Amino acid sequence: MLVLGIESSCDETAAAIVADGTRVLSSVVASQIPTHAKYGGVVPELASREHLRKIEPVVNEACQQAQVGIQDVDGVAVAEGPGLVGSLLVGLVYGKALALALAKPLVGVNHLEGHIHAVLLENRMDRLAGKPVQEAQLPAATLVVSGGHTSLFLVEEGCARAECHSVLSYKRLGQTRDDAAGEAFDKVARLLALGYPGGPVIDQLARWGDAQAVDFGRIKMKGNPLDFSFSGLKTAVLYRVRGTPLAIEAEQRRAWPQARHNVSADELRAHCSPATLDLVASFQNAVVRDLLERTLAAADTAQVDSIFVSGGVACNSLLRARFVEVSKAQGYRVFFPSPALCTDNAAMIAAAGYYKLKAGELADAALTAHASFPLGT
Ligand code: KG4
Ligand code: ZN
Repeated sequence: MLVLGIESSCDETAAAIVADGTRVLSSVVASQIPTHAKYGGVVPELASREHLRKIEPVVNEACQQAQVGIQDVDGVAVAEGPGLVGSLLVGLVYGKALALALAKPLVGVNHLEGHIHAVLLENRMDRLAGKPVQEAQLPAATLVVSGGHTSLFLVEEGCARAECHSVLSYKRLGQTRDDAAGEAFDKVARLLALGYPGGPVIDQLARWGDAQAVDFGRIKMKGNPLDFSFSGLKTAVLYRVRGTPLAIEAEQRRAWPQARHNVSADELRAHCSPATLDLVASFQNAVVRDLLERTLAAADTAQVDSIFVSGGVACNSLLRARFVEVSKAQGYRVFFPSPALCTDNAAMIAAAGYYKLKAGELADAALTAHASFPLGT
């Protein structure tokens, strides 16, 4: 079964063709980073306009790369939320019109469910696809960590409710009460004039800093210990910069004309003092430690031995290394998608959509976009 996936929830216009929920025949992502970089964050109106320009070429390119005609597709899966409504609507309306014109079934997919399926897509959850081998074991404590989300779920096979045909079920264990982890990376990078998006650049620069140089302490949560909060950490970084030589250094980088273009981490490093490198390394370390500790606590609470991690921040090299190291030491199995499938893409939407199509969870003409769209119970 060939599924066309469409994703446009934020600043990536993406389309993909996935066969049988497991084989990615194509995954095309048109990034809008150059458009938003000068503003240090996504500008919703610009994002919608760019999605409009790119949606058709991106879908065509996905078909071409997969060497399939659009009429060969067996179903269309579109991200319906959460995200920027103006952005979501572009992909959603395009997918809806395509399904109608081709007389193919249409399914709406929760963007977060897509991120979770990105783990299964590559780690071959073959039992669901009707094959004998299954590597990524469910149930799993699952961390979805990106620029828009930081949430923990218990993901299990099947759904307890008889009327629900979902192939997987999702129980929310915790979520951020303020900034998402990726948002904190982006805001700290903006404060220090390190470019946009902040995650990848901090990931690189942190290699040259001392992660123990600044002790940010642990993030304390009242109430649910599986919730997150990163705004305090971001403010702690601000206090360490404001009115210090680090702020002057950041202004010099901001005025550096080359910074508007894609500079390498090596070039940028030449414009960063050791104190700045130490600060970003310590910040990254604090975020990763918090994500790791709460995810392990979630796995412990839910009494599962599999951990899934997905979303843009799951590209982070320290995060991947620490999760593997600590999970192994504590007897957990940890699974990530490859970096290209961690960040927003449409293969994850097609994969999630495949199981919904198989379960007959079809959308009708009422399908629409949702800015807020909680996953699970
Ligand atoms: O999943 P994604 O593409 O979009 C959302 O659903 O939000 O994630 C983008 C986020 C950005 O905040 C970006 O800074 C962060 O993921 N990110 C990283 C890394 N690569 C991307 N954060 C930390 N380390 C990275 N290597
Ligand atoms: Zn995402």
